Amino acid sequence: MRNTCNFNLKGKTAIITGGERGIGLEIAKGYAAAGADIVIAGILNEEFENAKKFIEEEHVKCLCIYTDVSNESEVKSMVMRAKDEFSHIDILVNNAGINRQFPVESMPLDVWQSIINVNLTGVFLVSREVGSVMLKQGQGNIVNITSMSGLVVNPLPQTQCAYNSSKAGAIMLTKVMAVEWAQRGIRVNAIAPGFMRTPLTQNRLSNPEDPAVKKWLEGTPMNRIGNPSDLVGLALYFASDASAYTTGTVVSVDGGYTCL
Ligand SMILES: NC(=O)c1ccc[n+]([C@@H]2O[C@H](COP(=O)([O-])OP(=O)(O)OC[C@H]3O[C@@H](n4cnc5c(N)ncnc54)[C@H](O)[C@@H]3O)[C@@H](O)[C@H]2O)c1
Repeated sequence: MRNTCNFNLKGKTAIITGGERGIGLEIAKGYAAAGADIVIAGILNEEFENAKKFIEEEHVKCLCIYTDVSNESEVKSMVMRAKDEFSHIDILVNNAGINRQFPVESMPLDVWQSIINVNLTGVFLVSREVGSVMLKQGQGNIVNITSMSGLVVNPLPQTQCAYNSSKAGAIMLTKVMAVEWAQRGIRVNAIAPGFMRTPLTQNRLSNPEDPAVKKWLEGTPMNRIGNPSDLVGLALYFASDASAYTTGTVVSVDGGYTCL
């Protein structure tokens, strides 16, 4: 049967924040396999070489740029460098994210602010800078890695008011940007993953008795933890012409968790 969908990214340039490991790296590898050159913008210098090696195996270019997404001047210079190197930026994946857990009544203000700064303000800053380039080009796709935790409250004992609020904010920002830029060639969509096996969740998952892990599994109809590779198909769909009429959408990839 002829494939009538266009998932090809050949000749495109994709910036992936936090693309040096975890979910970001898996998406970067998927985009590279579809033909895109990759810019990784993250803070883990020690992971850059490994990530670059994986990407270049797909015979595309890979540029790694140290960037704290919550730092306005670092974001501006990363976007300028990416534009200078590749002359166009077609895809942005806002993937960088952090989490720390405290009950609301004891959440320190500096921890709250650091999470909001990366997970929400970071999405705004990078989207603003890359969006300006895309508006001049008249085309571009933005994919925001939000979370199921932006849609529902995590079961106790997970107490993560700042993380959930930041992800809910990123989901609304997805919709606002989608509407503001809908007639100017930019589409903006969000993926809301469930509990995934990555370095972020490694500690919890390595303890089978962790009560939070037990609760997640009980609440997940598919009864398994997700893998970053479970997100790549949707990330490719959103970044490619296959989703040409899709914008402002949030799709959960959570083994059915949010059905219950
Ligand atoms: N693992 C899960 O269960 C899960 C579930 C839902 C959503 N998510 C989201 O997926 C995204 C990726 O998470 P992951 O699980 O791969 O975690 P991870 O810790 O493996 O990766 C996070 C990445 O973000 C980068 N990062 C952190 N702070 C940064 C900053 N200030 N500037 C630039 N980069 C920064 C890190 O360098 C790292 O590469 C995050 O936004 C996370 O909230 C993860």
